[in-house]
Amino acid sequence: MTSPAAALAALRPRLPSPLTEVADDRFTRRGVRLLLKRDDLIHPELPGNKWRKLEPNLLAAAEAGRRTLLTFGGAYSNHLRATAAAGRLLGFRTIGVVRGEELAGRPLNPSLARCAADGMELRFIDRATYRRKAEPEVLAALVPEDCLVIPEGGSNAAAARGCTALGRELRGAAEVVAVACGTGGTLAGLAAGLAADQRAIGFPVLKGGFLGAEVERLQRAAFGGRRGNWRLEERFHCGGYARTSPELEEFSREFGELHDIGLERLYVAKALYGVTTLLREGAFAPGTSVAVVVTGAADYYSSSR
Ligand SMILES: Cc1ncc(COP(=O)(O)O)c(C=O)c1O
Repeated sequence: MTSPAAALAALRPRLPSPLTEVADDRFTRRGVRLLLKRDDLIHPELPGNKWRKLEPNLLAAAEAGRRTLLTFGGAYSNHLRATAAAGRLLGFRTIGVVRGEELAGRPLNPSLARCAADGMELRFIDRATYRRKAEPEVLAALVPEDCLVIPEGGSNAAAARGCTALGRELRGAAEVVAVACGTGGTLAGLAAGLAADQRAIGFPVLKGGFLGAEVERLQRAAFGGRRGNWRLEERFHCGGYARTSPELEEFSREFGELHDIGLERLYVAKALYGVTTLLREGAFAPGTSVAVVVTGAADYYSSSR
């Protein structure tokens, strides 16, 4: 029988992911180098932070003899899609608990249809119960016996530990590393994996100012305490999750055309827009290299929306 690690290796992830320099006038004029860490190229079905966060959870599930993965998400969750794909590729049963009871009677949107096509069982629950999904009595009603529960967005201690590899791959490559944040697991691990002379900036795509405490909680769970030099830039959510602004749209279109790269709009575009604004504000001294993590692929996500 193939081991779980061998089954994952057989999916041939592109690791370490490529690091490419982008010649952008706005940066070169100020003596700053812009690098893109192309995590979007790791795997076509588990791109970006999806691979880095799911891999350790899949290994843990297989090693503990769990044959079912249960996780949570909204109707357009990238994480639900990636979990469903991982289940199909590696032979796990998958259950997706979806926020919004009212969706149960409607035709599935393309993202949920993709989950279902990958064999995911979808369970729709009302928003009040969904908010209480981490409580033992709510979980007990949802979870079958041989099941590994992965939290919303895939961020748990194992995921944060998985993302340390991203930081390690970037050692020596840039003084500053920028990443978009949703649930905070990627930043928690990335910052822990960087060298002592590097710093990470997280760009939350949600409003609310709750993320700093969450990244600290994840670092405590994964590493026993705060790790690495990181901070959040809360100004670039552009109205909140899946919201945009004319400035962000214009920036993304222009950057895409200039560099012939499609930017994933919900996360990556906001981090890159934030970095470019910080550059304009003089936040990076000449001679600094800034690496922006491309945590998701444009076509993967646009095809689900
Ligand atoms: C493309 C993309 N980038 C960044 C993130 C944010 O990652 P995290 O939830 O670990 O903060 C997500 C969500 O998982 C995502 O789908």
